[in-house]
Amino acid sequence: MESWIVETKNLKKYYQQGANTVKALDGVDFRVKAEEFVAIIGKSGSGKSTLLHMIGGLDMPTDGEVIVGGKNLAGLTKEQLAIFHRRKIGFVFQSYNLVQDLNVYENIILPIELDGKRVDKKFVKEIMEVLQLEEKREALPRTLSGGQQQRAAIARAIAATPSLLLCDVN
Ligand SMILES: Nc1ncnc2c1ncn2[C@@H]1O[C@H](COP(=O)(O)OP(=O)(O)O)[C@@H](O)[C@H]1O
Ligand SMILES: [Mg+2]
Repeated sequence: MESWIVETKNLKKYYQQGANTVKALDGVDFRVKAEEFVAIIGKSGSGKSTLLHMIGGLDMPTDGEVIVGGKNLAGLTKEQLAIFHRRKIGFVFQSYNLVQDLNVYENIILPIELDGKRVDKKFVKEIMEVLQLEEKREALPRTLSGGQQQRAAIARAIAATPSLLLCDVN
């Protein structure tokens, strides 16, 4: 049997907007192998963010299944889903979602601290060096360029050593 890190089966997400139903995902069968790098390309509004949110356990599907690391997300409670997201998923949001009151370093280590884990300072330093964030360590997000904010969001996602890195970029 193949080992899939991500598998979706007949995945549907419909958004209700007044009398209108937006079928953002309408029966997606999608599989990714462990250690594979996959890019999903599609025009604006085609459902890329919706798909990543479903895989990351950030929102519930209308129908179908999402299986990540062999775990069917439909079987998890809301709290288990939050823990799954925090421990297993690195998520780079389209709008970065940095915490505005925390500096770059504090943002990067926040998920690790929220999980009650010890921060591997050497590893975080290495990530910050590679992403050229060292000199912005103490800076607040609003003082950064778009690219710097995005790199801080990437650093935050990587620092927690997730099993799966989901990047919702434009
Ligand atoms: N929370 C929501 N409520 C209603 N409609 C939504 C919501 N999120 C996304 N949509 C709609 O679902 C479709 C797919 O959106 P999205 O997944 O953001 O696409 P993409 O990331 O490819 O641009 C779009 O038509 C969008 O307007
Ligand atoms: Mg999007």
